[in-house]
Amino acid sequence: MSGGAGAGLPAPLGLLAELTHRCPLACPYCSNPLALEGRAGELDTAEWARVFAEAAALGVLQLHLSGGEPASRRDLADITAAAHAAGLYTNLITSTIGVTPARLEALRDAGLDHVQISIQDSLPESADHIAGYDGAHAHKLATARTATRLGLALTINAVVHRANIARLPELVALAAGLGAGRVEVAHAQYYGWALRNRAALMPTRAQVTTATAALADLRARYEGRLVIDAVVPDYYARRPKPCMGGWGRRSLNVTPSGRVLPCHAAETIPGLTFWSVREHSLAEIWARSPAFAAFRGTDWMQEPCRSCDRREIDFGGCRCQALAIAGDAAATDPACALSPLHATMLDLAAAAAAGEPPPYAYRGRQPKILERSQQT
Ligand code: SF4
Ligand code: FES
Repeated sequence: MSGGAGAGLPAPLGLLAELTHRCPLACPYCSNPLALEGRAGELDTAEWARVFAEAAALGVLQLHLSGGEPASRRDLADITAAAHAAGLYTNLITSTIGVTPARLEALRDAGLDHVQISIQDSLPESADHIAGYDGAHAHKLATARTATRLGLALTINAVVHRANIARLPELVALAAGLGAGRVEVAHAQYYGWALRNRAALMPTRAQVTTATAALADLRARYEGRLVIDAVVPDYYARRPKPCMGGWGRRSLNVTPSGRVLPCHAAETIPGLTFWSVREHSLAEIWARSPAFAAFRGTDWMQEPCRSCDRREIDFGGCRCQALAIAGDAAATDPACALSPLHATMLDLAAAAAAGEPPPYAYRGRQPKILERSQQT
Protein backbone atom coordinates (compact mmCIF):
# COMPACT_ATOMS: atom_id res chain seq x y z
CA MET A 1 0.00 0.00 0.00
CA SER A 2 1.23 3.50 -0.76
CA GLY A 3 -0.83 6.64 -0.71
CA GLY A 4 -4.11 6.95 1.19
CA ALA A 5 -6.90 4.50 1.95
CA GLY A 6 -8.74 3.20 -1.05
CA ALA A 7 -9.86 0.13 -2.86
CA GLY A 8 -6.62 -1.67 -1.99
CA LEU A 9 -7.06 -1.10 1.74
CA PRO A 10 -5.87 -4.19 3.63
CA ALA A 11 -8.00 -5.76 6.35
CA PRO A 12 -6.94 -5.14 9.95
CA LEU A 13 -5.60 -8.22 11.72
CA GLY A 14 -6.02 -7.23 15.34
CA LEU A 15 -8.33 -5.24 17.57
CA LEU A 16 -7.44 -4.08 21.05
CA ALA A 17 -10.55 -3.56 23.16
CA GLU A 18 -9.93 -1.28 26.13
CA LEU A 19 -12.91 -2.58 28.07
CA THR A 20 -12.35 -0.10 30.90
CA HIS A 21 -9.71 2.30 32.14
CA ARG A 22 -10.39 1.21 35.73
CA CYS A 23 -7.40 -0.68 37.16
CA PRO A 24 -6.20 -1.57 40.66
CA LEU A 25 -2.56 -1.13 39.62
CA ALA A 26 -0.88 2.20 39.03
CA CYS A 27 2.12 1.40 36.79
CA PRO A 28 4.14 4.53 35.98
CA TYR A 29 4.41 3.50 32.28
CA CYS A 30 0.71 2.74 31.78
CA SER A 31 -0.38 2.97 28.14
CA ASN A 32 -3.76 4.49 29.06
CA PRO A 33 -4.14 8.23 28.47
CA LEU A 34 -3.40 10.80 31.19
CA ALA A 35 -7.13 11.67 31.21
CA LEU A 36 -8.73 8.30 32.02
CA GLU A 37 -12.27 7.58 30.81
CA GLY A 38 -14.86 6.97 33.55
CA ARG A 39 -17.09 3.98 34.11
CA ALA A 40 -20.30 5.81 33.18
CA GLY A 41 -19.39 6.13 29.50
CA GLU A 42 -18.19 2.54 28.97
CA LEU A 43 -19.67 0.45 26.15
CA ASP A 44 -22.05 -2.18 27.49
CA THR A 45 -21.96 -5.93 26.76
CA ALA A 46 -24.25 -5.71 23.72
CA GLU A 47 -22.26 -2.86 22.21
CA TRP A 48 -19.01 -4.82 22.55
CA ALA A 49 -20.69 -7.88 21.03
CA ARG A 50 -21.68 -5.80 17.99
CA VAL A 51 -18.12 -4.42 17.69
CA PHE A 52 -16.69 -7.97 17.77
CA ALA A 53 -19.09 -9.19 15.06
CA GLU A 54 -18.20 -6.18 12.89
CA ALA A 55 -14.49 -6.77 13.52
CA ALA A 56 -14.72 -10.39 12.43
CA ALA A 57 -16.64 -9.38 9.31
CA LEU A 58 -13.90 -6.86 8.54
CA GLY A 59 -11.24 -9.57 8.69
CA VAL A 60 -9.90 -9.16 12.24
CA LEU A 61 -8.50 -12.45 13.56
CA GLN A 62 -7.12 -11.57 17.00
CA LEU A 63 -8.89 -9.74 19.78
CA HIS A 64 -7.01 -8.41 22.79
CA LEU A 65 -9.27 -7.81 25.79
CA SER A 66 -7.43 -5.13 27.65
CA GLY A 67 -7.90 -2.11 29.87
CA GLY A 68 -7.13 -0.84 32.45
CA GLU A 69 -7.93 -4.13 34.04
CA PRO A 70 -10.58 -6.02 32.03
CA ALA A 71 -11.52 -8.06 35.12
CA SER A 72 -12.85 -4.82 36.63
CA ARG A 73 -15.87 -5.53 34.40
CA ARG A 74 -18.39 -7.93 35.91
CA ASP A 75 -19.55 -8.93 32.41
CA LEU A 76 -16.09 -10.11 31.29
CA ALA A 77 -17.27 -13.70 30.75
CA ASP A 78 -20.21 -12.51 28.62
CA ILE A 79 -17.88 -10.24 26.63
CA THR A 80 -15.49 -13.17 26.12
CA ALA A 81 -18.34 -15.42 25.00
CA ALA A 82 -19.43 -12.79 22.46
CA ALA A 83 -15.89 -12.58 21.08
CA HIS A 84 -15.69 -16.35 20.82
CA ALA A 85 -19.08 -16.51 19.11
CA ALA A 86 -17.81 -13.98 16.55
CA GLY A 87 -14.98 -16.39 15.74
CA LEU A 88 -12.14 -14.26 17.12
CA TYR A 89 -8.98 -15.64 18.76
CA THR A 90 -9.25 -14.06 22.18
CA ASN A 91 -6.38 -12.88 24.36
CA LEU A 92 -6.93 -11.51 27.87
CA ILE A 93 -4.34 -8.90 28.88
CA THR A 94 -4.59 -8.78 32.64
CA SER A 95 -2.91 -7.58 35.81
CA THR A 96 -4.72 -10.63 37.34
CA ILE A 97 -6.19 -8.56 40.18
CA GLY A 98 -9.82 -9.63 40.33
CA VAL A 99 -9.14 -12.90 38.46
CA THR A 100 -9.80 -15.87 40.74
CA PRO A 101 -9.22 -19.48 39.63
CA ALA A 102 -13.00 -19.97 39.32
CA ARG A 103 -13.35 -16.85 37.23
CA LEU A 104 -10.49 -17.85 34.95
CA GLU A 105 -12.09 -21.26 34.47
CA ALA A 106 -15.37 -19.54 33.56
CA LEU A 107 -13.50 -17.38 31.04
CA ARG A 108 -11.90 -20.44 29.52
CA ASP A 109 -15.30 -22.10 29.29
CA ALA A 110 -16.62 -18.93 27.60
CA GLY A 111 -14.01 -19.40 24.86
CA LEU A 112 -10.90 -17.56 26.06
CA ASP A 113 -7.83 -18.81 24.16
CA HIS A 114 -4.86 -16.99 25.63
CA VAL A 115 -3.77 -15.02 28.69
CA GLN A 116 -1.11 -12.33 28.79
CA ILE A 117 0.19 -11.36 32.21
CA SER A 118 2.65 -8.54 32.83
CA ILE A 119 5.37 -9.16 35.41
CA GLN A 120 6.94 -5.98 36.78
CA ASP A 121 10.15 -7.53 38.12
CA SER A 122 11.57 -10.86 39.29
CA LEU A 123 11.92 -9.51 42.85
CA PRO A 124 8.50 -9.43 44.55
CA GLU A 125 9.11 -6.27 46.57
CA SER A 126 10.38 -4.33 43.56
CA ALA A 127 7.56 -5.69 41.38
CA ASP A 128 4.91 -4.52 43.85
CA HIS A 129 6.58 -1.13 44.17
CA ILE A 130 6.55 -0.64 40.37
CA ALA A 131 2.91 -1.75 40.12
CA GLY A 132 1.95 0.42 43.10
CA TYR A 133 0.05 -2.52 44.60
CA ASP A 134 1.08 -4.64 47.55
CA GLY A 135 0.79 -8.38 46.83
CA ALA A 136 0.25 -8.00 43.07
CA HIS A 137 3.32 -10.07 42.15
CA ALA A 138 2.33 -13.13 44.17
CA HIS A 139 -1.17 -13.00 42.69
CA LYS A 140 0.22 -12.79 39.16
CA LEU A 141 2.38 -15.87 39.67
CA ALA A 142 -0.51 -17.86 41.11
CA THR A 143 -2.83 -16.83 38.26
CA ALA A 144 -0.21 -17.67 35.63
CA ARG A 145 0.04 -21.19 37.10
CA THR A 146 -3.75 -21.49 37.09
CA ALA A 147 -3.85 -20.42 33.43
CA THR A 148 -1.45 -23.13 32.30
CA ARG A 149 -3.22 -25.72 34.50
CA LEU A 150 -6.46 -24.81 32.71
CA GLY A 151 -4.79 -25.34 29.35
CA LEU A 152 -4.75 -21.67 28.36
CA ALA A 153 -1.82 -20.42 26.28
CA LEU A 154 0.29 -18.00 28.34
CA THR A 155 2.49 -15.05 27.41
CA ILE A 156 4.45 -13.14 30.01
CA ASN A 157 4.98 -9.49 29.23
CA ALA A 158 7.88 -7.74 30.95
CA VAL A 159 8.16 -3.97 30.58
CA VAL A 160 11.82 -3.23 31.25
CA HIS A 161 13.34 0.04 32.42
CA ARG A 162 16.18 1.18 34.63
CA ALA A 163 14.85 -0.43 37.83
CA ASN A 164 14.56 -3.98 36.44
CA ILE A 165 16.54 -4.26 33.20
CA ALA A 166 19.53 -5.81 35.01
CA ARG A 167 17.30 -8.77 35.97
CA LEU A 168 16.29 -9.71 32.42
CA PRO A 169 17.71 -13.26 32.79
CA GLU A 170 15.72 -13.75 36.01
CA LEU A 171 12.55 -12.40 34.37
CA VAL A 172 12.90 -14.79 31.43
CA ALA A 173 13.63 -17.70 33.79
CA LEU A 174 10.50 -16.79 35.78
CA ALA A 175 8.38 -16.82 32.60
CA ALA A 176 9.80 -20.21 31.59
CA GLY A 177 9.13 -21.61 35.07
CA LEU A 178 5.51 -20.45 34.88
CA GLY A 179 4.97 -22.44 31.69
CA ALA A 180 4.73 -19.48 29.31
CA GLY A 181 5.19 -20.23 25.62
CA ARG A 182 6.29 -16.70 24.90
CA VAL A 183 7.84 -13.77 26.74
CA GLU A 184 7.63 -10.24 25.40
CA VAL A 185 10.40 -7.95 26.59
CA ALA A 186 9.00 -4.48 25.98
CA HIS A 187 10.86 -1.31 26.80
CA ALA A 188 8.77 1.46 28.28
CA GLN A 189 7.35 3.63 25.48
CA TYR A 190 7.66 7.30 26.30
CA TYR A 191 4.21 8.75 25.69
CA GLY A 192 1.56 9.56 28.29
CA TRP A 193 2.40 8.25 31.76
CA ALA A 194 5.85 6.97 30.77
CA LEU A 195 6.77 10.35 29.27
CA ARG A 196 5.83 11.93 32.59
CA ASN A 197 8.09 9.34 34.31
CA ARG A 198 10.89 9.38 31.74
CA ALA A 199 13.62 10.37 34.22
CA ALA A 200 12.56 7.58 36.59
CA LEU A 201 12.37 4.89 33.89
CA MET A 202 15.10 5.59 31.32
CA PRO A 203 17.91 2.99 31.39
CA THR A 204 21.49 4.00 30.67
CA ARG A 205 23.12 3.03 27.39
CA ALA A 206 25.40 0.67 29.34
CA GLN A 207 22.34 -1.09 30.84
CA VAL A 208 20.80 -1.49 27.37
CA THR A 209 24.05 -2.85 25.90
CA THR A 210 24.32 -5.42 28.70
CA ALA A 211 20.67 -6.42 28.29
CA THR A 212 21.03 -6.81 24.51
CA ALA A 213 23.97 -9.19 25.00
CA ALA A 214 22.03 -11.10 27.66
CA LEU A 215 19.08 -11.48 25.26
CA ALA A 216 21.25 -13.22 22.67
CA ASP A 217 22.38 -15.74 25.32
CA LEU A 218 18.82 -16.22 26.59
CA ARG A 219 17.46 -16.89 23.10
CA ALA A 220 20.09 -19.59 22.61
CA ARG A 221 19.45 -21.10 26.05
CA TYR A 222 15.64 -21.27 25.68
CA GLU A 223 15.46 -22.14 21.95
CA GLY A 224 12.60 -24.50 21.24
CA ARG A 225 11.07 -23.98 24.70
CA LEU A 226 10.24 -20.29 24.95
CA VAL A 227 9.85 -17.62 22.27
CA ILE A 228 11.54 -14.40 23.38
CA ASP A 229 10.33 -11.23 21.61
CA ALA A 230 12.31 -8.05 22.17
CA VAL A 231 13.30 -4.90 20.33
CA VAL A 232 15.98 -2.27 20.95
CA PRO A 233 14.47 0.63 22.91
CA ASP A 234 13.66 3.61 20.69
CA TYR A 235 15.90 6.08 22.49
CA TYR A 236 18.95 3.92 21.76
CA ALA A 237 17.94 2.68 18.30
CA ARG A 238 19.33 3.69 14.89
CA ARG A 239 16.18 2.86 12.95
CA PRO A 240 12.61 3.11 14.28
CA LYS A 241 10.12 0.31 14.64
CA PRO A 242 7.13 0.21 12.27
CA CYS A 243 4.82 1.32 15.06
CA MET A 244 1.54 -0.64 14.98
CA GLY A 245 2.84 -2.24 11.78
CA GLY A 246 2.12 1.10 10.10
CA TRP A 247 -0.62 3.59 10.96
CA GLY A 248 -4.05 2.29 9.97
CA ARG A 249 -2.58 -0.81 8.36
CA ARG A 250 -2.96 -3.69 10.78
CA SER A 251 -4.95 -2.84 13.88
CA LEU A 252 -7.55 -0.82 15.72
CA ASN A 253 -7.85 0.32 19.34
CA VAL A 254 -11.30 0.85 20.78
CA THR A 255 -11.46 2.98 23.95
CA PRO A 256 -13.87 2.15 26.79
CA SER A 257 -16.43 4.64 25.43
CA GLY A 258 -16.10 3.36 21.85
CA ARG A 259 -13.79 5.83 20.13
CA VAL A 260 -11.59 4.03 17.61
CA LEU A 261 -7.90 4.94 17.51
CA PRO A 262 -5.10 3.85 15.17
CA CYS A 263 -2.84 3.35 18.24
CA HIS A 264 -3.21 3.59 22.01
CA ALA A 265 -1.51 7.02 22.22
CA ALA A 266 -3.17 8.62 19.18
CA GLU A 267 -5.22 10.96 21.35
CA THR A 268 -1.99 12.78 22.28
CA ILE A 269 -1.90 14.07 18.68
CA PRO A 270 -3.84 17.33 18.45
CA GLY A 271 -6.28 17.92 15.61
CA LEU A 272 -7.25 14.30 14.92
CA THR A 273 -10.94 13.38 14.85
CA PHE A 274 -11.78 9.93 16.21
CA TRP A 275 -15.04 8.32 15.16
CA SER A 276 -17.00 6.19 17.61
CA VAL A 277 -18.56 2.78 17.22
CA ARG A 278 -21.68 4.38 18.69
CA GLU A 279 -22.08 6.44 15.51
CA HIS A 280 -20.32 4.45 12.79
CA SER A 281 -19.72 0.83 11.86
CA LEU A 282 -16.18 -0.47 12.31
CA ALA A 283 -15.91 -0.93 8.53
CA GLU A 284 -16.78 2.75 7.96
CA ILE A 285 -14.26 3.81 10.58
CA TRP A 286 -11.49 1.66 9.12
CA ALA A 287 -12.13 2.92 5.59
CA ARG A 288 -13.04 6.57 6.16
CA SER A 289 -12.29 7.88 9.65
CA PRO A 290 -10.16 11.05 9.39
CA ALA A 291 -7.83 9.82 12.16
CA PHE A 292 -7.02 6.60 10.28
CA ALA A 293 -6.53 8.48 7.00
CA ALA A 294 -4.20 11.07 8.56
CA PHE A 295 -0.97 9.03 8.47
CA ARG A 296 -1.94 6.01 6.40
CA GLY A 297 0.39 5.01 3.60
CA THR A 298 3.24 7.35 2.64
CA ASP A 299 1.67 10.48 1.06
CA TRP A 300 1.78 12.44 4.33
CA MET A 301 5.55 11.97 4.79
CA GLN A 302 8.14 14.71 4.94
CA GLU A 303 11.83 14.34 4.13
CA PRO A 304 13.91 12.33 4.89
CA CYS A 305 11.17 9.64 4.97
CA ARG A 306 9.50 10.78 1.73
CA SER A 307 12.42 9.67 -0.45
CA CYS A 308 13.77 6.92 1.81
CA ASP A 309 13.82 3.31 0.61
CA ARG A 310 12.66 2.12 4.06
CA ARG A 311 9.43 4.16 3.98
CA GLU A 312 7.23 1.12 3.37
CA ILE A 313 9.19 -0.96 5.88
CA ASP A 314 8.98 1.21 8.99
CA PHE A 315 6.39 3.78 7.80
CA GLY A 316 8.48 6.56 9.30
CA GLY A 317 8.37 5.09 12.81
CA CYS A 318 6.01 6.26 15.51
CA ARG A 319 3.76 9.31 15.01
CA CYS A 320 3.23 9.76 18.75
CA GLN A 321 6.97 9.76 19.43
CA ALA A 322 7.53 12.23 16.56
CA LEU A 323 4.99 14.49 18.23
CA ALA A 324 6.48 14.05 21.71
CA ILE A 325 10.02 14.96 20.60
CA ALA A 326 9.76 16.91 17.34
CA GLY A 327 6.47 18.60 18.20
CA ASP A 328 5.14 17.45 14.80
CA ALA A 329 3.35 14.13 14.35
CA ALA A 330 4.23 14.11 10.62
CA ALA A 331 7.98 14.41 11.27
CA THR A 332 10.41 11.50 10.91
CA ASP A 333 10.51 9.58 14.17
CA PRO A 334 13.63 10.92 15.97
CA ALA A 335 14.54 7.29 16.80
CA CYS A 336 15.81 7.20 13.18
CA ALA A 337 19.46 8.20 12.76
CA LEU A 338 18.42 10.07 9.58
CA SER A 339 16.15 12.40 11.56
CA PRO A 340 17.63 15.86 12.18
CA LEU A 341 16.47 15.40 15.80
CA HIS A 342 18.17 12.06 16.40
CA ALA A 343 21.03 13.64 18.38
CA THR A 344 18.45 15.52 20.48
CA MET A 345 16.79 12.21 21.32
CA LEU A 346 20.11 10.70 22.40
CA ASP A 347 20.75 13.77 24.56
CA LEU A 348 17.29 13.43 26.12
CA ALA A 349 18.00 9.78 26.93
CA ALA A 350 21.40 10.57 28.45
CA ALA A 351 19.98 13.43 30.51
CA ALA A 352 17.02 11.33 31.72
CA ALA A 353 19.24 8.39 32.69
CA ALA A 354 21.84 10.51 34.50
CA GLY A 355 21.77 10.78 38.27
CA GLU A 356 19.36 9.34 40.82
CA PRO A 357 15.90 8.45 39.46
CA PRO A 358 13.07 10.55 40.92
CA PRO A 359 10.09 8.80 42.60
CA TYR A 360 7.40 7.47 40.26
CA ALA A 361 4.38 9.58 39.37
CA TYR A 362 1.87 6.71 39.59
CA ARG A 363 -1.02 6.70 37.18
CA GLY A 364 -4.39 7.99 38.08
CA ARG A 365 -4.61 7.70 41.83
CA GLN A 366 -2.83 7.18 45.11
CA PRO A 367 -1.36 3.67 44.71
CA LYS A 368 -2.37 0.95 47.19
CA ILE A 369 1.18 0.40 48.32
CA LEU A 370 1.45 4.03 49.45
CA GLU A 371 -2.03 4.11 51.00
CA ARG A 372 -1.04 1.14 53.17
CA SER A 373 2.35 2.50 54.19
CA GLN A 374 0.71 5.78 55.19
CA GLN A 375 -1.79 3.94 57.40
CA THR A 376 0.94 2.15 59.36
FE1 SF4 B 1 12.36 5.03 8.21
FE2 SF4 B 1 11.99 7.61 7.63
FE3 SF4 B 1 14.24 6.81 8.85
FE4 SF4 B 1 13.81 6.19 6.29
S1 SF4 B 1 14.09 8.25 7.15
S2 SF4 B 1 14.60 4.81 7.87
S3 SF4 B 1 11.54 5.86 6.29
S4 SF4 B 1 12.13 6.72 9.66
FE1 FES C 1 1.02 6.12 18.24
FE2 FES C 1 3.34 4.82 17.75
S1 FES C 1 2.18 4.92 19.64
S2 FES C 1 1.99 5.76 16.33
